[in-house]
Amino acid sequence: MNLFLDTAEIAEIKKVHDLGLLDGITTNPSIIAKSGRKFTEVIKEITSFVKGPVSAEVLSTDSANMIKEGLELASIAENVVIKVPLIPEGLKAVVEFTKKGIRTNVTLCFTANQALLAAKAGASYISPFIGRLDDVGYDGLDLISEIREIYDNYGYETEILAASVRNPIHFKEVALRGADCATLPYSVFEMLFKHPLTDIGLSKFLEDAKKLTW
Ligand code: G3P
Repeated sequence: MNLFLDTAEIAEIKKVHDLGLLDGITTNPSIIAKSGRKFTEVIKEITSFVKGPVSAEVLSTDSANMIKEGLELASIAENVVIKVPLIPEGLKAVVEFTKKGIRTNVTLCFTANQALLAAKAGASYISPFIGRLDDVGYDGLDLISEIREIYDNYGYETEILAASVRNPIHFKEVALRGADCATLPYSVFEMLFKHPLTDIGLSKFLEDAKKLTW
């Protein structure tokens, strides 16, 4: 499964990139605003060293302006993926981006029907928001299973990019349910490594290693 970070914080991105475990980056307007930096400046800096897909979201809500913005963002680097909200005008823009060979990530997906429409439009990625569904009393993980089944039924190549992943259980479950990618906040990525028995075991090995002779 491809592992993306859902952040615009360069220090966090570099840490995972340096480990060799980073497949791509997703951002959204809230994430960029939180960084306190200029939108295009951040995307440029990320694409200067991340060679996998980097999602940058359009801010317009009509297809003509989405396409205009998307073309500008796509000109920053060949690995920029245009993130588009799941509204009719968004999917209209996705159809056009697809014709031009520009990759898209359709975001704010909360139902299997929405995911089916995005695949029909030719989306490269669909981003179902797991955590936000859980927040309002639905099972976000079930959505991953439904989309997987529907995409497999018809052979859609749109990749399922599990988003709004809030904890390690989400991560494990989206992997079990066949998501192609998951995008994580850095704090959740760090948690994936942790187990007390790993720490206890390593301490014991290092302690016992002092008794070794070479
Ligand atoms: O980038 C989209 C998504 O991952 C946002 O997550 O935690 O704000 O619901 P969250």
